Amino acid sequence: MNIILIGFMGSGKSTLGIRLSYRMKHPYIDTDKYIENKENKSIQNIFAEEGESEFRKKETETIRYFLDSRIKDHVIATGGGMPVTEENIPLLKRLGVVVWLKIRPETVLSRLEKDTQRPLLQGEDKESKVRTLMEFREPYYTRCADVVVEVDDKPVERIMDEVFTKSRGVWKRKKRMRYE
Ligand code: S3P
Repeated sequence: MNIILIGFMGSGKSTLGIRLSYRMKHPYIDTDKYIENKENKSIQNIFAEEGESEFRKKETETIRYFLDSRIKDHVIATGGGMPVTEENIPLLKRLGVVVWLKIRPETVLSRLEKDTQRPLLQGEDKESKVRTLMEFREPYYTRCADVVVEVDDKPVERIMDEVFTKSRGVWKRKKRMRYE
């Protein structure tokens, strides 16, 4: 079964995804990196040259491609906006156990204070950008998630343990429902 990590920018999806993949001995995929390699362009350039909506289409295409290729036993980290495209929610759920790394806005702000890579957080007043976007996205993350793990103030080892413990039951249930 695949593990899919969703959550706001800065929630630690990539860091945790890499650690999980080592521990489980499963390959790791980052959808942002996958898109960048495929397009031979950075996310920043995709946003700047083609716009956000084109990037969102590429995200959906990526998930559809993973489903069509029937990838199994992978750890997949997604971009923070992935579940906000409505059609991605059932696709992600079909792809595996969806784990939401839930983070408080204060933690995002302290982690991404100096970030220059994320197009949606550039410019004035990062704090209100983070708060507004997070509030808007919460219902999407809630609907998309099979499992929720709060990440603030927790060491990576503890987050990993929680991901495993909480995912196990869901995995069995999804298997019974023939998701896989
Ligand atoms: C985005 C999050 C980014 C990246 C893009 C858009 C978002 O990924 O996909 O900048 O809409 O939240 P991370 O969540 O890995 O930062």
